[in-house]
Amino acid sequence: MCGIVGIVGRGDVAPLIVDALKRLEYRGYDSAGVATLDGGQLDRRRAQGKLVNLERKLKEEPLGGRIGIGHTRWATHGVPNETNAHPHFSHDVAIVHNGIIENFAELRTELMADGYEFSSQTDTEVVAHLVARERKNGAEPVAAAHNALKRLQGAFAIALMFRGEDDLLVAARNGPPLAVGHGEGEMYLGSDAVALSPFTDVITYLEDGDWATVRRDRVEIFDIEGRPVERSRTKARSTSFMVDKGNHRHFMEKEIHEQPEVIGHTLAHYLDFVGGKTKDIALPFDFAKLDRLYISACGTAYLAGSIAKYWFERYARLAVDIDIASEFRYREMPLSPNSAALFISQSGETADTLASLRYCRSAGVPIAAVVNVQESTIARESDAIFPTLAGPEIGVASTKAFTCQLSVLASLAIRAAVERGFVSPERERELVRELSETPRFASAALKLDRQIEKLARELAQVKHVLYLGRDTSFPLAMEGALKLKEISYIHAEGYAAGELKHGPIALIDESMPVIVIAPHDRIFDKTVSNMQEVAARGGKIILITDTEGARRATIDALETIILPTVPELIAPIVYAVPIQMLAYFTAVFMGTDVDQPRNLAKSVTVE
Ligand code: F6R
Repeated sequence: MCGIVGIVGRGDVAPLIVDALKRLEYRGYDSAGVATLDGGQLDRRRAQGKLVNLERKLKEEPLGGRIGIGHTRWATHGVPNETNAHPHFSHDVAIVHNGIIENFAELRTELMADGYEFSSQTDTEVVAHLVARERKNGAEPVAAAHNALKRLQGAFAIALMFRGEDDLLVAARNGPPLAVGHGEGEMYLGSDAVALSPFTDVITYLEDGDWATVRRDRVEIFDIEGRPVERSRTKARSTSFMVDKGNHRHFMEKEIHEQPEVIGHTLAHYLDFVGGKTKDIALPFDFAKLDRLYISACGTAYLAGSIAKYWFERYARLAVDIDIASEFRYREMPLSPNSAALFISQSGETADTLASLRYCRSAGVPIAAVVNVQESTIARESDAIFPTLAGPEIGVASTKAFTCQLSVLASLAIRAAVERGFVSPERERELVRELSETPRFASAALKLDRQIEKLARELAQVKHVLYLGRDTSFPLAMEGALKLKEISYIHAEGYAAGELKHGPIALIDESMPVIVIAPHDRIFDKTVSNMQEVAARGGKIILITDTEGARRATIDALETIILPTVPELIAPIVYAVPIQMLAYFTAVFMGTDVDQPRNLAKSVTVE
């Protein structure tokens, strides 16, 4: 992951680089650094931990200079300390890098044999030395960079700066995104357009294999052979925002509370509430002609796809293969000729999801994507996009993006059902009306916050938690477990309730809380049987259900969170709210860094 920035400016650039890095901190926050060229000499400041540490350092020891590069790190090779923090230097070369150099070990051996000494454990330092060796052998800066780039394997976005070169940055992209920002007598580089939004909204996205020279008055882009290539300029959609937390303690809390509103916006994009119909948004395939839909995604987005599988199969009778993208990309799956592929990603940059998309592209399958960031690589490489109108999601743990993904997917499933002839106009009207009520029910769920906070106080005392559910509540149980572990660091697992007796029941004792997600539906009684099995073994159950469910679940030692009775279609969207709050309050009691939990990053551009 990591975020990179470069500026060829008119005044001192270090403060501007830090400003841009603040917008990229979602990409990693293990360490950060800035290097500039001041009086022809390279200088840098680096600090372990969050960006505030670097800011503090820069206040004590400011950096001058009209050209510079910056980095915020998510560690891949080497522990997150100051020595491994970017920018890395070798002789007259400075570099920042996002991604992984896969052949770094062999390059490192070669460079060490050539007398190059490594001061860090990073893969990045090999690139600095490679370029420096080219310089030592007489290559000009641009040729040196190009020669070195040709030796690299793996995924990278890179920015290079050279001692004595006050008007030159060299940028390269192979995998992770890199945007060039065009200013007036100034030029910028950034991992995304949002990082550059205070400076410019005129953006050129480098494509894979591109490299570029960036000067104050011009940008030239080349392919790997060094041939000039044309890349269009676009107007970035993102405005110069620095979202704040409002009255909330954390972004995650704010984003949980925004859900009724953003779900409403998202649904309104896909549904005609007055006409009781799904809107006719252009598709790159015909639902009626599909015999299979392939969905792949990672993490929470994968779990949104797992819920959607139930919807597409139940309402539209459309078979869905749902895959974790990191598996799908290498699984060599034969793809049906009458199929389509759907990718789900908040960031639109997740490396494994993007690779899966490219696999489907190479097989000639039409591609659509559900994305939150509409300028992202996945959005740009899809035949059609279905935006989630969640707004920027800052908390690393996905909340509002998840429920907006579900809102889009439910709308698409209804549309597929209509187009495939499995849903009558009356039923379509009914389903659209049910979906239109989601924001109201999500609001009602938010009102349970005090009760959930109380339960979370107890949850914060335990070491392991099991989540159970059936049908769409099964992937939601996995999402509950994922949310809890990523922000509270409590070990949690999500299971299909019916699977309990096939192994996990061995874990149940008095110290193991079991959270059961079970709206009162067709299979509620089956889940009650599973709860009985837990209760019989002393397990403490927290049941998330509705009034009828609470009435029918007559089990001792049961805590219940009672939600309004909601239609089956929207239950997973509404029930997502209490599981998010439970994870959130537990993490608050544990005292963890809720918005930036350890070891994680918001945008995962490495495999
Ligand atoms: C968990 C979480 C992650 C992401 C995953 C995919 O709360 O946020 O599991 O869902 O990294 O990210 P995107 O959706 O950006 O592809």
